[in-house]
Amino acid sequence: MSGGKLMKTKILKPTAGGIAEAGEIIKNGGLVAFPTETVYGLGANALDEKAVSKIYAAKGRPGDNPLIVHIAEKEDILPLVKEVTPQARALMEAFFPGPLTIILPKSDKIGKTVSGGLDTVGVRMPLNPIARAMIKAAGVPVAAPSANTSGLPSPTNAGYVIEDMRGKIDAVIDGGSCEFGIESTVLSLAGEVPVILRPGAVTREMLSEVIGRVDIARAVTCGMKDGETAASPGMKYKHYAPRAKIVIVNAPKDKYERFVNSQSGAFALCYEEDDVKIPRVTFGREGDDLSQSHALFDALRRLDELGAKKVYARNPRLEGVGLAVYNRLIRAAAFCVIDLEKPFLIGLTGQTGAGKGYVSQKLAGMGYNIIDADKVYREMTESDPVLLGVLRREFGEEIFENGALCRERLAALVFSDPERLGRLNAAVHPLILERCESLARFPAVLDAPQLFESGGERLCARVLCVTAPQELRLRRITERDGISQTAARQRAASQLSEEYLTENSDFTVINDGRDIISQLIRFKEELL
Ligand code: TXA
Ligand code: MG
Repeated sequence: MSGGKLMKTKILKPTAGGIAEAGEIIKNGGLVAFPTETVYGLGANALDEKAVSKIYAAKGRPGDNPLIVHIAEKEDILPLVKEVTPQARALMEAFFPGPLTIILPKSDKIGKTVSGGLDTVGVRMPLNPIARAMIKAAGVPVAAPSANTSGLPSPTNAGYVIEDMRGKIDAVIDGGSCEFGIESTVLSLAGEVPVILRPGAVTREMLSEVIGRVDIARAVTCGMKDGETAASPGMKYKHYAPRAKIVIVNAPKDKYERFVNSQSGAFALCYEEDDVKIPRVTFGREGDDLSQSHALFDALRRLDELGAKKVYARNPRLEGVGLAVYNRLIRAAAFCVIDLEKPFLIGLTGQTGAGKGYVSQKLAGMGYNIIDADKVYREMTESDPVLLGVLRREFGEEIFENGALCRERLAALVFSDPERLGRLNAAVHPLILERCESLARFPAVLDAPQLFESGGERLCARVLCVTAPQELRLRRITERDGISQTAARQRAASQLSEEYLTENSDFTVINDGRDIISQLIRFKEELL
């Protein structure tokens, strides 16, 4: 694009003439989108830094995210890298041409625009004959990322390329839909042990058969924390994200069906054979990873076309090509997963006087089943033989009166002695949590003042905390419990800090007079 003006984007046919024209455009420093067996690429002459910089501009791509260089013949790799190692050679024999990108230390021919400033380069020889013919016609190696606007799903047909790139690139070759539908496996051979930076249709199992040990980068399945450095810069950016909010639902078919069929106003992103009554878009068949990869990005784009706002997706399995499908979907979902295999609990906690009880009431009014950990504890101290047995063993007969637990005596015994208090908590917290968990019926809230101290947050899919300014909290406790300012301060000081709670919770409700319901609705929209 020059001077911000839109150019005319030509749609070329995959004929000898169309391919020759595309090659000519690339040779002359232009941009052409082209089909590959994975997704459409947005190509430029990899040896022309100016041409390459236009790719970043057209996609809105951060400059530190390197591009893959595409070649037409195996030996075309030689000038691009420092050395083709024996491992690289073996992998090229096995998987070139195909959906595998290998990363090696780069030669001086590769400029820093292509490499995003790294000293390595990713090289791939596509299987798609149109892609290879175009690279041949260009007569140069072709740098090409996926042909989408940065952050959106990769395009799997020419129509999707046009949606994102019309007016920003010289041409697109329309070669129909892509066979695999997700991008190539990216394998780094630049370190001591080969590492998969991005999973794809060439699976770890397939790679291991050729070169033995292959590791998988942690970021493949986990989110990256702020400030964590990525082996592959692409992993740190928001990715594949449609406008709709996607939530992955981990559950077997029947449980998933029951769950989505009770959701109104949402879409299902499910398998073809799933019995789903709400509006749905499918991505392949269960147990058939390749059908899923083929359909996934198309499905994500269709959800936006249909105006979906909230989408509940099936959880792909983590093996074979399923790992690659999961890797894309979990990013599209911004790592939001509801696990129906575990009781789905929302933890609710807060400092004394913050107004947790009030928030709990509001959540009950919104239809949540509240499990009150304090109440569960009180009930268990009345009648639970296991809990009473544990207390008798730890603290002796003196805390009992006529066979019943005397809570005042127990309190007197432990509250002046931190060691005893620690022993009490260690003994009873697991029992209380176990009972709370057994009481959980979706959608449930575990209301627990000591949620973090007891380890209860580990049972919770999401944690909500309630905070209020200190003055307000102290006033509330002195008024409610009739205790002195000093006693109120002491009680507050023995609890986890507001900072700790906020940092370790998924959402903070601020209870200083502002509207609670609207905050809870925002929590529900953002995190459930
Ligand atoms: O299937 C594919 O690989 C497609 C088609 C067009 O070939 N291309 C593609 O490119 O997906 P792109 O740029 O969308 O994704 C390349 C990924 C990015 O995550 C990038 O950070 C990573 O590969 N990558 C590229 N060069 C790298 C390098 N030298 N070191 C580490 N990661 C690299
Ligand atoms: Mg991409």
